[in-house]
Amino acid sequence: MRQKILEIKHKTEAYNTIMNHKITTLFTVIVISSSALSTHNAIANMHDKAVTKKASPKPTAVDLDQGKALIAKSDCLSCHRLDIKLVGPAYKDVADKYPQNKYNYNALTQKVIAGGSGVWGQVAMAAHPNLAAADDKKMVEYILTVK
Ligand code: HEC
Repeated sequence: MRQKILEIKHKTEAYNTIMNHKITTLFTVIVISSSALSTHNAIANMHDKAVTKKASPKPTAVDLDQGKALIAKSDCLSCHRLDIKLVGPAYKDVADKYPQNKYNYNALTQKVIAGGSGVWGQVAMAAHPNLAAADDKKMVEYILTVK
């Protein structure tokens, strides 16, 4: 009988040790996964911020003023006017055709640098390889506000 009681006591102790170990392990898993989750969330937040920053291409008033001044200094006005078609399309027509967004800023910046024809007719725009892309972009940003 005494032997039996000792055996049961022993088994209970062993059981408790295993359970304690399991609970500790479970707890550790919860702690690790919740910290992994918060790291994940922090990275996701950073990513969101980066995307938001990229997605707001709105030019500042200073950019637009500079764009206007750069157009006046460059050769643009020998082929373009604000509201009449000359050799190239009126800037108002360009602004009507293209909404103000990042894609159009980039595409038109490339077009002014490379030159080319086919969108408004057969006459080609001269290339502007010496124009700094940043300046060119400001001109394009300004043109797309002329409505
Ligand atoms: C030699 C004449 C000429 C000059 C100089 C010129 N352009 Fe143009 N531009 C054109 C012509 C022609 C087109 C139409 C091209 C086409 O049909 O694809 C055009 C088109 C454009 C367009 C619209 C492009 C498109 O694909 O819809 C923009 C924007 C533009 N010009 C900006 C400028 C800027 C900024 C300058 C000065 C840095 C400039 N242009 C100088 C003749 C000129």
